[in-house]
Amino acid sequence: MVDPALSRLLDKRFVAVTGKGGTGKTTLTAALALLAAQRGKRVLVCMSQARERMSATLETEFVGSEVKTILGSIDAVNMDPETCLEEYGLMVLKVRALYKAVMDNRVVKGFIRAVPGMDAWSMLGKALFHVKEQENGRNKYDLVLLDAPATGHGVQMLRVPLVIQKIAPPGLLRREAEDGIALMRDPSKCAVVVCTLPEEMPASETEELIATLRDELKLTVGGLFVNQVLSPLFAGKFDQALLASHALSEIPAFEPLATVTRARAIREEVQRNILERFAKLNAPRVYIPALPVERIRRPHAQALAKVLADGGV
Ligand SMILES: Nc1ncnc2c1ncn2[C@@H]1O[C@H](COP(=O)(O)OP(=O)(O)OP(=O)(O)O)[C@@H](O)[C@H]1O
Ligand SMILES: [Mg+2]
Repeated sequence: MVDPALSRLLDKRFVAVTGKGGTGKTTLTAALALLAAQRGKRVLVCMSQARERMSATLETEFVGSEVKTILGSIDAVNMDPETCLEEYGLMVLKVRALYKAVMDNRVVKGFIRAVPGMDAWSMLGKALFHVKEQENGRNKYDLVLLDAPATGHGVQMLRVPLVIQKIAPPGLLRREAEDGIALMRDPSKCAVVVCTLPEEMPASETEELIATLRDELKLTVGGLFVNQVLSPLFAGKFDQALLASHALSEIPAFEPLATVTRARAIREEVQRNILERFAKLNAPRVYIPALPVERIRRPHAQALAKVLADGGV
C-alpha cells in the first residue's frame, strides 16, 4: 500500500538524501530531480562529493562548484568546502575587499578550518541559502535536493547546526544555525530520504540512522528508498527452493543450476526478513528494482523516476 507521506515528498522545500555508501543516493537523487522537474518544479541539486557522478547519470555537462542549469528546470552544483567557506565568509563579511583581507590571512584561514564542522556547515548552509534564495520576487527554487554524504558524514553534516547553536556566541553564525534548524525541523518544508539495500549490513546501519535522525536530530524521515530489491522467484517458499536445489544437485550436469538456485533462494530469504524489519521502522517505503544495466544513464534514471512515482512519490 502506498504511504500518503510519500506523495508529499516533492512538495517540501528541502530534501536531503543519505544512507550507506553505494546504496544509490546519487542515482535516486537524480531520479527525484527528474520527477520533480516533470511536475513543473524548479529544482536545485546540491552535491557534496569529491567525485561528481550526477552528470554521468543524467548525461549532462560536468557539474562544478558554480550553480548551473544542467537539464530543463534542473540546476546543479557540486559543493566543495573551500568554495563554500569563501561564499560563507563573503556572506558574513559582505564586502569582497574586506573578505579578501580577512580570509587571505593564514591565521584566520587556519582558525576557521579548526572550528569543528565548519566545512560541513558551509556546504549545508549553502544548500539552505538556496532554499531561501529569491528571484523576481519569489523562491528561485521550489525544491532543493541535497545528495548528502554517506551515513556517518551525512549525520555529522545534518547535526552541525545543532553543534553551532550550542557552542557559537550570540551573533550571525548562531542565528544562521538556528534558522537552519527551524527549517530542517519543519515537517512541511524538509524531509530526509534514506537509501538502503535489502541486505544485512545496510539494514542494521539503516535502523540506527533512522533512529538518530528522528530521536537526536528531530528530523522527518520522508522516505525509505529500498534499492535493488529482487522480485521473488520463489515467493517465500524457501524450503521448497532448497529441496529443488538438492534434487537438481543429484544430477551432475545440473550442479551449477543447483548452486544458483540455492544462492538465489538464500538471498530472497534474507531480503524477506529484512523487508519485514524495514516495515517496522514506520517510514514511508518505496521498493526499487535493480535495473539489468551496467551503467545507469538518463533513460534508466527516467525509469527509476517512474518507479518512484508508481511507488507513491
Ligand atoms: N536500481 C538500480 N539498478 C541498477 N543499478 C543501480 C541502481 N541504483 C544504483 N545503481 C548503481 O549502483 C552504483 C551505486 O549507486 P550510486 O552511485 O547512486 O550510490 P551512492 O549511494 O551515491 O554511492 P556513494 O556512497 O559512493 O556516493 C552505481 O553504479 C549505480 O549506477
Ligand atoms: Mg553518491
